[in-house]
This record gives sequence, C-alpha cells and structure tokens, in this order.
Amino acid sequence: MADTGEYIVIKADEDGVNVIGLTRGTDTRFHHSEKLDKNEMMIAQFTEHTSAIKIRGKATLQTSHGEMKTED
Ligand code: TRP
Repeated sequence: MADTGEYIVIKADEDGVNVIGLTRGTDTRFHHSEKLDKNEMMIAQFTEHTSAIKIRGKATLQTSHGEMKTED
C-alpha cells in the first residue's frame, strides 16, 4: 500500500552505524534497529510499516534525492 517500491542504499563508513525504522501511522516509534559495521551495506524500502528511517553514525546514502553523507 504505502510501499513505493523505491529502495535506499546505506553504506556504513564506520563501525556501529544504526539504521532505525520508524512506524507509519499516528504513533511514530522505533520498530527496528539494525547495526552496520564499516563497509556493510543495507538496502531498504519505505513500506506499509515504515514511514521514516533514521540513520545514526557516519554513513553514505543513495536515494532518489541524490547521494549524501551523514558527516564529511
Ligand atoms: N518489517 C519492516 C517493514 O516491512 C522492515 C523494514 C523495511 C525496515 N524498511 C526498513 C526496518 C527500514 C528498518 C529500516 O517495514
């Protein structure tokens, strides 16, 4: 339903990067936290259950909005 089919790519640039999924709907809360070590990648979607993704730590992201880093 809310799944756009679009993927985002997250590459960890240091150990211990957290990729946190936040719920869709009136109650916005963490539902999943995934820990990535340096050079590990995660390919994720926004879904019926996930409306937002929070990234904590140094990482490179690729999205339809372009490529960006959480830190220089
Ligand atoms: N069960 C979650 C979902 O279907 C899995 C998930 C999708 C997820 N995208 C995510 C978890 C992004 C963390 C970050 O929505």
